[in-house]
Amino acid sequence: MRTLITNIGELTTNADHGMLRDAAVLVEDGRIAWVGAAADAPTHAEEVVDAGGRAVIPGFVDSHSHIVFGGDRAAEFEARMAGEKYAAGGIRSTVAATRAATDDELRVRLRGFIAEMHAQGTTTVEIKSGYGLDVETEQRLVRLAAEATDEVTFLGAHVVPTEFAEDPDAYVDLVIGPMLDACAPYARWIDVFCESGAFSVEQSRRVLEAGIARGLAPRVHASQLGPGDGVRMAVELGAASVDHGTYLTDDDVAALAVSDMVLTLLPGVEFSTRQPYPDARRLIDAGVTVALACDTNPGSSFTSSMPFCIAVAVRDMGMTPVEALWAATAGGAAALRRDDIGTIAPGMRADLVLLDAPSHVHLSYRPGVPQVRSVWKDGVLVAKRS
Ligand code: NIG
Ligand code: FE
Repeated sequence: MRTLITNIGELTTNADHGMLRDAAVLVEDGRIAWVGAAADAPTHAEEVVDAGGRAVIPGFVDSHSHIVFGGDRAAEFEARMAGEKYAAGGIRSTVAATRAATDDELRVRLRGFIAEMHAQGTTTVEIKSGYGLDVETEQRLVRLAAEATDEVTFLGAHVVPTEFAEDPDAYVDLVIGPMLDACAPYARWIDVFCESGAFSVEQSRRVLEAGIARGLAPRVHASQLGPGDGVRMAVELGAASVDHGTYLTDDDVAALAVSDMVLTLLPGVEFSTRQPYPDARRLIDAGVTVALACDTNPGSSFTSSMPFCIAVAVRDMGMTPVEALWAATAGGAAALRRDDIGTIAPGMRADLVLLDAPSHVHLSYRPGVPQVRSVWKDGVLVAKRS
């Protein structure tokens, strides 16, 4: 099956072609087969989509989410907007609701989030466990996540559950022993929340090293609520990405710049927890590879909108529209060490978004306005606005 998307007013490829005007893309069997000027497009496609002069971009790669959970925390958000401070401990209330939910309840919710993400242009999503915190529930979460994505992350070390409050190291033993055994077969990644109120650098290192020994690749939550040694540890362990980075020291930035690690910024968190936004300009100017992701979760960031994150990154974090779009597509792909997504070039997966706008700039120029018109994942239409 060949589909030609033509009459594209502006095509952002993230590849050698850069930004093309009056372009066309040929999709064949789920992959990009050809990219170039509309006037030179191959004519043998079975299906032709007229983009009507609108913009086409790569599908968003949302490299950080927690979308298998029960309940919500709207009351906590409301209290925060009235002046309460965000703390890692709120995770425990979602743990109680998640343990109480059936597989089917969690699955229905998860599928709803995936549909919501597709409708907003996301074609790849990483999904973390971390609201089970016992062997059985963590395994349920990675198993359910694996039904929805190849990018599953085991985050048993999200916070110490109440029943281990007196002996956090015993919980780390459980995470790196029976819990890892139960979850590793479903996961590609291991993650830890390295932060005051969650896990120390020493505990985080034990978790990540155990995961690496089981064949999982590391990624880390660090420097979300204050500065710490999490970034340095992540660099030492060769993590694919360190996520949050709201409070980075100059040493952190220098270490990131010379590493091949991605720093994944999550503006929905600063928005929803009323924290200062990280300075993406400082990172990019220092040579750090930056990704943008939503961190969809019921506590610190309950948005699943990559366009929203792009708008905030441009408005408040010093990114240009094209840098923010790169970070939300190719940057996310780099954070997941994927070389088959995030770019529109021959051979890549045909993950494409047709915007209801003439330019990618409109993603931040028209914040909050639905501008995703059609979304293809592996060449298959997964969302279309009527
Ligand atoms: O990415 N940082 C740790 N985990 C989530 C928050 C989860 C929650 O508050 O439920 C995050 O912000
Ligand atoms: Fe997170």
